[in-house]
Amino acid sequence: MTETTALKSGLLADIAAANNLAAVEELRVGALGKQGVITALLKTLGGMSADERLEKGPAIQDLRESVTAAIAERKATLEQAALDARLASEKLDMTLPADIGPVGSVHPVSQVMDELAEIFADLGFSVATGPEIEDDWHNFTALNIPETHPARAMHDTFYFPDVDGAAQRMLLRTHTSPVQIRTMMNQKPPIRIIAPGRVYRSDSDATHTPMFHQIEGLVIDRGITLGHLKWTLETFLKAFFERDDIVLRLRPSYFPFTEPSVEVDVGYTMVNGQRVIGGSDGWLEVLGSGMVHRKVIEACGLDPEEWQGFAFGTGVDRLAMLKYGMTDLRAFFDGDLRWLKHYGFSALDVPTLSGGVGA
Ligand code: PHE
Repeated sequence: MTETTALKSGLLADIAAANNLAAVEELRVGALGKQGVITALLKTLGGMSADERLEKGPAIQDLRESVTAAIAERKATLEQAALDARLASEKLDMTLPADIGPVGSVHPVSQVMDELAEIFADLGFSVATGPEIEDDWHNFTALNIPETHPARAMHDTFYFPDVDGAAQRMLLRTHTSPVQIRTMMNQKPPIRIIAPGRVYRSDSDATHTPMFHQIEGLVIDRGITLGHLKWTLETFLKAFFERDDIVLRLRPSYFPFTEPSVEVDVGYTMVNGQRVIGGSDGWLEVLGSGMVHRKVIEACGLDPEEWQGFAFGTGVDRLAMLKYGMTDLRAFFDGDLRWLKHYGFSALDVPTLSGGVGA
């Protein structure tokens, strides 16, 4: 055995036996580094005669190639083994319950809005939004509430100071009905939307806060009647309260932007001194509604002979109180963590119709 073959088998054996990357690197430096044995052998080639080089050269080159390949291979094997070991030690059981630690809860207002969006999505309604800082025209005039209309006084509006040269007076919207206008002006009928959001009125006691939440509904299509309105409200309230024994009472009412207008009460039963929705021992007013006034349809540039529709508006906070049993509206906006913990909902329980929207 020549010196080169002996060196080769020795190095290959050492490489095969190296059991970590540092050992492999040490062998590489020792063989192929600047001061390495193979490097030294390669250097001797320069000093050889042509014949000698022809004789010994191929073996030295073979030595270099074999050792380089063996090192690369050993390195890849060790790296793969390290990765396998790491993957095995970092294995996660995805079927275990998540430990998410302390988390916040979903506010009942958000919960109810999510429930309503889910219920109405199932009926083919999409969600529309509009600005909370609104102009006079969208909040009042286009809704058939002209400047001198007494309904303006009823709304206890927060107005912004007049700005010289401004085209319109700005205000905090007093209801979500201006979203009806914005939708009809931006979207071609047929229209089926709900519009949840904050509204503002200068009013404050146990059942009124200066900011509260409404949800508006609007349907515009051909041949829409009061029957469609009644069915939609009945379907929605049954799904929302998750009861089939919901009794509705429709009373004639007045809103400038609907004609005829209908106020809707929902029946309750007294159970252990508590009002429970369902039955008809007494009545609670839950929403205002009606057939969209032709003047409103006209104000949005649509032909009332062709397009009709219905609209409704209801208080989200009030719906939350009726469904989940809170008594003081002001607590909704105090940000008291104890209240939120008690009345809040788990962030992971997304309302679905199949699961029962409030479950
Ligand atoms: N905007 C009305 C209110 O705030 C509610 C309503 C909406 C009534 C749509 C009829 C139709 O009281």
